[in-house]
Amino acid sequence: MFTPSLPLFTILTMCGIFCKEMPDGKGIAWMDENLEILFDEQAIEQRVAELAAQISHDYEGKDLVLVCILKGAALFTADLSRHLTIPATLDFVHVSSYGNATVSSRTIIMKKDIDTDIRGKNVLFVDGIIDTGGTITFLIERCRERGSASIKVVTLLDKHSRRTADVPIDYRGFEVPDIFVVGYGMDYGEKYRNLPYIAALDPLST
Ligand code: IMP
Ligand code: MG
Repeated sequence: MFTPSLPLFTILTMCGIFCKEMPDGKGIAWMDENLEILFDEQAIEQRVAELAAQISHDYEGKDLVLVCILKGAALFTADLSRHLTIPATLDFVHVSSYGNATVSSRTIIMKKDIDTDIRGKNVLFVDGIIDTGGTITFLIERCRERGSASIKVVTLLDKHSRRTADVPIDYRGFEVPDIFVVGYGMDYGEKYRNLPYIAALDPLST
């Protein structure tokens, strides 16, 4: 097991960063003092496997296109797709609506659109977190115009209390309260995406 030497630990602590043994004893992940773990690796893995089982059952024998909403859903899509027991193709969209702030802005910029011809196919948008619902509503509307057979949504996290758009969420991992979360793909100013767990961040203290 890795135990940081005292001088290294002191330096990291001075930088506001320290190493922590994960609750499941699986190893060490870096974290800083502004983070509080909400869902650890084990909880995420279990829920992702459950979602994948449900999706595999529902899409058996159908043409499934997983559309990962970058960048937040990158890790979730990778894990979810590996747990599926049915064939699926992968595509990616990249939209920006947040910038570096913790409050949703209203302008949605399309940075990368779907490449796949989705006519007659079953599209499943894979999102990391749905907040106001503006982004996913924008994507669903664009997708509808292209004649897909069906459009559904899976999100790992649902910040339901902040919803302003009526979004049909077909599969949800966890509901989260109105707090800012990072890790497992989700960022604050591009930081924290590679954390293996999901944590609450206090932006005022960063
Ligand atoms: P919406 O359009 O308001 O639903 O915002 C969705 C997007 O905002 C997500 O895909 C994330 O990129 C970002 N977002 C919303 N809440 C959080 C959060 O708590 N942490 C990190 N990103 C968030
Ligand atoms: Mg972001």
